[in-house]
Amino acid sequence: MEEPLKPEVNIFPNLEKASRSLAEKISGEAKEALEKQVRFAWALSGGSTPRQLYTHIANEYKNKIEWSAVHLFWGDERWVPENHPDSNFAMAYETMISKVPLPPPNINRVISEIQTPERAAESYEKVLREFFNDSDEETFPTFDVMLLGVGEDGHTASLFSGSSALEEKRHWVVAVDAPPSCSPKKRITLTLPLINRSRAVFFLVSGSEKSRVLRSILEEPYKARRNYPAAMVKARKKLAWYVDEDAYHG
Ligand code: 6PG
Repeated sequence: MEEPLKPEVNIFPNLEKASRSLAEKISGEAKEALEKQVRFAWALSGGSTPRQLYTHIANEYKNKIEWSAVHLFWGDERWVPENHPDSNFAMAYETMISKVPLPPPNINRVISEIQTPERAAESYEKVLREFFNDSDEETFPTFDVMLLGVGEDGHTASLFSGSSALEEKRHWVVAVDAPPSCSPKKRITLTLPLINRSRAVFFLVSGSEKSRVLRSILEEPYKARRNYPAAMVKARKKLAWYVDEDAYHG
């Protein structure tokens, strides 16, 4: 069995410094990728942690990234309207997308207003298959960068412990119900086989409430894989953690 990549762990005094470092890393990934290819496919994470990262990128990288070649996607989305306060698209749009010269066709949001979460998932999978020109049912495409967060329960994207979505081997996108501790309940998420095909996966984690899960994932990865979806994430070339002291030391 292929040994998983050994993760790189970067610990920073606070989220602001972790965000600044990750912004520079993502900018470098885009520059390097676009020397060899014409598109840079970046899947964004939601929740609250990436706000500072997106804000910093908008402020400092507006003219440092070749935005016309960047194509944005979401690792997961809540089944709420695009202007809802819980929308991952709305948060990224407010903090970054509305402030950088990204061509609107390069924004691939989950159309979460579709009448059911299942239809929204089907629709998003169609968007992804068209973008990656991939009609082959068996293979999974490669995102250049997959940005992820981690919940206190070890979930990532909207892949929750015990969910049947963790067993999905064919679909790229599925609809899920979050547990009662995570609102909103109805969500759409990329599946593990798709996430794990990413060239580079970056986790951004902040806050002492994440330290128990984070240390388990970093120090006992095999045991953590039994309970924490974030521990099941792999990458083809690069898997790195950008965490603050609170998340690492508790
Ligand atoms: C979501 C996210 C989710 C998030 C974690 C951490 O839609 O909620 O994609 O996976 O990254 O729940 O959330 P915070 O950054 O708010 O702690």
